[in-house]
Amino acid sequence: MKVAIIMGSDSDWNVMKAAVDTLKNFSVEAEVTVASAHRTPQKLHDFVKNSSAQIFIAAAGMAAHLAGVVASLTTKPVIGVPINSEPFKGLDSLLSTVQMPGGIPVATVAVNGAKNAALLATEILALQDETLAKKLISYREQMAAEIELKDKRLKEVLL
Ligand code: RP5
Repeated sequence: MKVAIIMGSDSDWNVMKAAVDTLKNFSVEAEVTVASAHRTPQKLHDFVKNSSAQIFIAAAGMAAHLAGVVASLTTKPVIGVPINSEPFKGLDSLLSTVQMPGGIPVATVAVNGAKNAALLATEILALQDETLAKKLISYREQMAAEIELKDKRLKEVLL
């Protein structure tokens, strides 16, 4: 297993599906688990301690301590995804994920930034995997080509 995605609740899935889809596009092995820092602390502890994953992606909303707790249990890289939740529209999740005290880092992506979390995990894995590194370069080239196409189409409409 390369990447373990942990979600605080199944209600985070509609956002986190994008991370699984992105990892699949790069053929990166991933698994998804629901384990909460607050509701199932022992399950979370056991999962992280026993996981063979090289990178953890932790997604949670509200008082989102999930990524920080995961990071406290491992020295592997942890990427946090703050989930947009009511009533503060994800600002609470963002601050509780990103504002880690010194010593226990969490690489936090944007609110609902599931796709970038998966890309960042892929980039870390690509440091030791040349095939993956080449796939990332093609992905960037494809994105740039799509932007050029959009620019061309827009100019055709405007002129
Ligand atoms: C967090 O509380 C979860 O990550 C989720 O984003 C939020 C709400 O959870 P549910 O009440 O939908 O289970 O722990």
